[in-house]
Amino acid sequence: MKISIIGTGYVGLVTGVCLADTGNDVVCVDIIKEKVEAINEGRAIIYEDNLEQNLRKNLKENRIKATTNIEDAARHADVIFISVGTPSRENKSIDLGFIENTSCDIGKALRNENNYKVIAVKSTVVPGTTENVVIPLLEEFSGKKAGSDFGVCMIPEFLREGRAIYDFMNPDRIIIGEYDEESGNVMAELFKNFSCPILRTNLRTAEMIKYASNAFLATKISFINEIANICELKGIDVNEVAEGIGLDKRIGPHFLHAGIGFGGSCFPKDVSALISSTDENGYEPKLLNEVMELNERQKLWPVKKLKEIFSDLKNKKLAILGLSFKRDSDDMREAPSISIINFLLKEKCTIQTYDPKATENAKKIFGNRINYCKNIDECLNDANVCIIASDWDEFKEIYDKFELMKNKIVIDGRRMLNPEKCKELNIKYYGVGYKNG
Ligand code: UDX
Ligand code: UDX
Repeated sequence: MKISIIGTGYVGLVTGVCLADTGNDVVCVDIIKEKVEAINEGRAIIYEDNLEQNLRKNLKENRIKATTNIEDAARHADVIFISVGTPSRENKSIDLGFIENTSCDIGKALRNENNYKVIAVKSTVVPGTTENVVIPLLEEFSGKKAGSDFGVCMIPEFLREGRAIYDFMNPDRIIIGEYDEESGNVMAELFKNFSCPILRTNLRTAEMIKYASNAFLATKISFINEIANICELKGIDVNEVAEGIGLDKRIGPHFLHAGIGFGGSCFPKDVSALISSTDENGYEPKLLNEVMELNERQKLWPVKKLKEIFSDLKNKKLAILGLSFKRDSDDMREAPSISIINFLLKEKCTIQTYDPKATENAKKIFGNRINYCKNIDECLNDANVCIIASDWDEFKEIYDKFELMKNKIVIDGRRMLNPEKCKELNIKYYGVGYKNG
């Protein structure tokens, strides 16, 4: 099939490369010229395993290209995906500005088209958006009718950063929200070679399935963090509790890893947008509000521990290992490390950091207010305390490196280390949900 993808960020570029890889003819569109040039030169603009080689392979086989011209792309396609950003406003509600602009542009491009196309919203949009925002703009700017002249679907994405290609190619399910059966049939044809369950439903249900999925996963994380905080008080290791409850098939072992909270471009934004979307219905989602509030408190768990250890942080040297919101990502959006550093910047202490990939992004946030080290040794050197704020695998076996520190004290925000081993090596260990002290 001929596919166009409007918006080549995380989701759009991965979707484009994977659909090209599965034999489709893909055109990616972005408003940022540099992104378009990078894609056409075979440079992946985001850090994602295997993305660059897959992109180059499909460029070579002429199955993918990029352009800034939305009209050409819309004309080319049988299916036009919308995967532009849906950021948060100041008040945490969803900003649909890019969705609206893109819907207008696609509508204009459809005006002189006669063959049937399906517009598929992939961006995460609050329930009701495709029907009440996207379709009216498509109709207004094309002068055509949804259903009779063009199809509309809502196809939510469930991609994790760092695992996005794997998640795209091995989905647990594909959700097809359809305006009508004809629209849905086109998408079912596009995904016919995927072996997972395909659920066909209406547009707003598909939008809600995306939000409910992210809200549930975020709730599961805040739940295990709440249990972790209780375990600490009762001399219990939350990781053993997580293992025990995870054996219950109704609970499952995943997303029960206690830590300093969830970050990233999705959970915080999507849960907040869902909460805000209920304002118009006069409903107050108290549980989801508490999921978010607990998460904000959890990000500062390392600071709480610091205060237990040092009465005063003045002139102390703090080593922070990990800045990204999670391993295998350079993304700093809503990363717990930002909350921690913002707090520490008010203290008169020295902050030295190391992250395998996120340093350049961290520099855009903190500039020269903190130090950026090239490796773990440099970061730990002469430090009074180490905070682990991201779960990069390379932080798992660093026991001998604590010898470089002035004081061998570690505040393990992601439970990367073995507390017993730390004890054997006289490393003072504090871990989330661990029977510290
Ligand atoms: C985006 C949405 O933010 C997310 O809610 C949804 O789940 C999937 O699509 P992501 O790919 O991470 O996620 O967004 P982002 O990294 O912001 O990329 C969006 C891209 O769209 C950017 O490259 C931006 O330049 C581009 N864009 C934005 C357009 O091409 N046109 C626009 O009008 C606006
Ligand atoms: C998430 C969803 O997993 C994905 O399905 C959706 O499409 C986009 O949002 P992502 O944000 O990329 O993906 O990363 P994920 O691996 O889900 O982690 C999100 C955050 O939760 C990270 O900050 C991570 O550190 C944290 N987390 C995750 C925990 O604290 N504990 C866990 O057990 C799992």
